[in-house]
Amino acid sequence: MPERVNVNGALGGPDEAAISPLDRGFLFGDSVYETIRTYGGRPFLLREHLDRLRRSAAALDIDAAAAPVDIEAEIARTLAAAGNPESAVRVVVSRGRGPLGYDPAGCGPPTVVIHVRACPSIPEQWRREGVDVAIVPVTRNAPAALDPAIKSSNLLNNFLAWREAFLAWREAHRLGAWEPILTNASGRIVEGASSNIFVVRDGRLRTPPLEDGLLPGITRAAVLELAGRDDLDAGEASLQPDDLRRADEAFLTSTLKGVLPIRRCDGWPIHDGRPGPVTRRVMGLFEALAQTGSNRGAAPGSSLR
Ligand SMILES: Cc1ncc(COP(=O)(O)O)c(C=O)c1O
Repeated sequence: MPERVNVNGALGGPDEAAISPLDRGFLFGDSVYETIRTYGGRPFLLREHLDRLRRSAAALDIDAAAAPVDIEAEIARTLAAAGNPESAVRVVVSRGRGPLGYDPAGCGPPTVVIHVRACPSIPEQWRREGVDVAIVPVTRNAPAALDPAIKSSNLLNNFLAWREAFLAWREAHRLGAWEPILTNASGRIVEGASSNIFVVRDGRLRTPPLEDGLLPGITRAAVLELAGRDDLDAGEASLQPDDLRRADEAFLTSTLKGVLPIRRCDGWPIHDGRPGPVTRRVMGLFEALAQTGSNRGAAPGSSLR
């Protein structure tokens, strides 16, 4: 039973799961979520993910503490029921059911949906050779409109960016765009539709600062910490599109992708189009962290503390 869905503690297959059509998550995208994956069968960096879930909920005044179930315990129960060697877990906490209209009075308690499936595998070729990205004309939500730091399920901005890259790919087959890269209203690169981005220039590893408007990725934070500990020159800096196009190396990070080299941007190779030494070093460091976190029996999320 690789796919299991848990709605407020009721565990079943995806076709049995149900939420109310009056749930604010369904009506307005008024909900927050996390994507977590296991390594060695154990949720990786679980504490970091649950902390971000609470922060996202608090930013929207969703009272996650009033959830009808213990989220961490239900994740464990759903993982056990699915029984995959490695799983991807999506946890959604919505404001819950309420009267139509924006006033949140009378809404709740929060709805908790936990979806577990077999972890999608990343083709070995992508890790070895890298993937393609395209800078799309869809700008990332401005922080003053819908702060990208909130991991909300209101994902139309991300979907529209994805659609733009997909249409470009269909029209020009040479552009095997795989991840759309968004800029902010000032034209600076901020992140992928479902990933953070890093570039390397003259040995310096840089990723856009949170102030430029992006999700504080858990993998991004882990990479910054690992790279710093390994004496790499790693930090935050605002990036223009040309900083990516002219980079010596570039890579994406996310929970499901891990660290993934970028091969081409807008159809043009990054440097010689092959993953460079800094990227390969960071991939090795991250892989080692994932193995440590899963093999040594450390408490989930404790490996970075
Ligand atoms: C918009 C966006 N940025 C970045 C990320 C990467 O975050 P994390 O490393 O926490 O998975 C994601 C993950 O889904 C995302 O949706």
